[in-house]
Amino acid sequence: MRDALNKAREQIAAFLHAESPEDIFFTSDGTESANLAIKGVAYANQRRGNHIVVSEIEHPSVLQSLEFLEKQGFHLHPREGGPGGLPGSRGGSGGRDR
Ligand SMILES: Cc1ncc(COP(=O)(O)O)c(C=O)c1O
Repeated sequence: MRDALNKAREQIAAFLHAESPEDIFFTSDGTESANLAIKGVAYANQRRGNHIVVSEIEHPSVLQSLEFLEKQGFHLHPREGGPGGLPGSRGGSGGRDR
């Protein structure tokens, strides 16, 4: 089983041009992935800033991870989701900063 996981990790790392197979993490579902990625990036970059722009049409698992970070002192800047779901792509702030 471990051999299969390591082989899959190597193949995915090669496909994504990751620096190392050790950079590939498997999670149980999308919710866990969003939680890990959002909090990981936020905490890893906390010294560079604590403001996060977010599209209001994100999946609840994304929004709930961000609401957790807001309670930890991060500042959220919601934006309307435009074409392609890009924040602010409809022009203007749309959403309210908080
Ligand atoms: C962007 C995004 N994040 C998270 C999820 C939740 O995935 P899961 O049901 O695997 O936890 C979904 C499901 O549609 C999704 O679209």
